[in-house]
Amino acid sequence: MRVVRTRDELADVRRTLPGRVAVVMTMGALHEGHAALMRAAKDSAESVLVTVFVNPLQFGPGEDLDRYPRTFDTDVAMCVREGVDAVFAPSLDEMYPNGEPAIRVGAGPLGERFEGAHRPGHFDGVLTVVAKLLHLTTPDVAVFGEKDAQQLALIRQMVRDLDFGVDIVGVPTVREPDGLAMSSRNAYLSAEDRQAALALHRALSSGDLEKARAILDDEPGVTVDYLELVDDETWAPASEGTRTGRLLVAARVGTTRLIDNMSVHLGTRIVG
Ligand code: PAF
Repeated sequence: MRVVRTRDELADVRRTLPGRVAVVMTMGALHEGHAALMRAAKDSAESVLVTVFVNPLQFGPGEDLDRYPRTFDTDVAMCVREGVDAVFAPSLDEMYPNGEPAIRVGAGPLGERFEGAHRPGHFDGVLTVVAKLLHLTTPDVAVFGEKDAQQLALIRQMVRDLDFGVDIVGVPTVREPDGLAMSSRNAYLSAEDRQAALALHRALSSGDLEKARAILDDEPGVTVDYLELVDDETWAPASEGTRTGRLLVAARVGTTRLIDNMSVHLGTRIVG
């Protein structure tokens, strides 16, 4: 497996990759959720590229850019284990040689809601780096986790709206045995936080907005940023006609901000 740092090295490696190429974009601190993305990538293409880059554009002031976990050696070991063909791990200068880009992708109205309402500019930063990495890696397929459901929805929209010509594959969230969604940020949780954080999964598993709210209200270690039920297709608030919804939650647990979501089958509801 090759580890490359520059766009020229990446272009050289890219030319040698046989068949369809899938990319898995990450910020490192890889866990089993990322391994699942790599396996999905292998299932959908002959060659797999992983990118590792902690993208400052998607962090707001006072967020965790500086303390974001960096575990490059174990990340590379996981990529080897999963049969990845190459890792692209650029420096900040390599990605943004002229400093922070003045031109960015605008995430549009959905980018202002839910996560976007709490993290202004976050999705512009995500879509800008995803667009750049798609240009640099020129994949046939790009694989993203459903854990970041709003990010996945916005990437699908960007690819459609701006004709990127890449297939986007979503992969179900990987959870710890007790239900906690895997996240690089789980590393911040104390033992006590870790216990309190389970309320997020309990709440989502109830499949009902009011029940979920009651479960979260009952856990003093959790402060909810938002809890919403949206239509899984349109991301509008779930309405009488919604057959499949998605419960979304973001909450602070100690000093850690966690997000999670789950699909909810609402079936045909009687309007009365
Ligand atoms: O999901 C992530 O890890 C990041 O948002 C991504 C897609 C790698 C862009 O920096």
